[in-house]
Amino acid sequence: MIIANWKANGDILSNLKWCKFFIENCPKEIISNIGITPSSLHIGQIKDLLESFEVKIGIQDIDSDGGPRTGSISGEMAADIGCDFTLIGHSERRTLFKERNELLKQKIESAYQANLQPILCIGETLEENKQGKTMDILKSQIEEAISNITIKEDFIVAYEPVWAIGTGITPKAKDINVIHEFIKDVVQSQSSDNEVPLVLYGGSINESNSEDFFTQINIDGGLIGGASLDAEEFLKIVNIYSRLITQ
Ligand code: 13P
Repeated sequence: MIIANWKANGDILSNLKWCKFFIENCPKEIISNIGITPSSLHIGQIKDLLESFEVKIGIQDIDSDGGPRTGSISGEMAADIGCDFTLIGHSERRTLFKERNELLKQKIESAYQANLQPILCIGETLEENKQGKTMDILKSQIEEAISNITIKEDFIVAYEPVWAIGTGITPKAKDINVIHEFIKDVVQSQSSDNEVPLVLYGGSINESNSEDFFTQINIDGGLIGGASLDAEEFLKIVNIYSRLITQ
């Protein structure tokens, strides 16, 4: 799966142009493997524009609950306007909004109650990476977020090293592959039904490096920030992914 994460970008006119290009140029056989997370304000617009296509629409975050929580969007509300999935625990939520694993666990529960597919984002900081703590950090991020939750077969993890997001610096594809295998093992051992998740990689994916990533056996797709804002650039990456998975 390839997901475009637009973060706090987009407006009515540029979204319209993006979707027009996307509809005209996206290979039809891959479209159900593509997700878009526009800003919450633009989800309705994107849903309308892409109504007759199987592309998945997601929300970038949900609150852990609804009701008297000014400024929040609940899982139920996201599901009601037709979202298929929600990101949970993106590193920008963890850093800027101080979201902790305990809260993320509540958000996953809330997503499941609303029938939204949760995509748990995890990743280590540069400092943690340099100290050789990557695997320990990822393990605790997963365990604390899904302990005692019955995860479903469509559970997805996105591995996004904090130091690779928006920096142009990435780990080596082979190293990501090893980390993804580890993530699959950790989730599987936490899962009462032995579920093995898809694991997406995110962090400075672009047209030039994506082939390296997508040829790795344990990299099941990408979560793409900056390079997803330009429809043409995004579709170049989608085309590389499409060619590799249909080979
Ligand atoms: P960039 O692709 O801009 O590095 O962002 C990655 C990301 O945070 C996607 O969620």
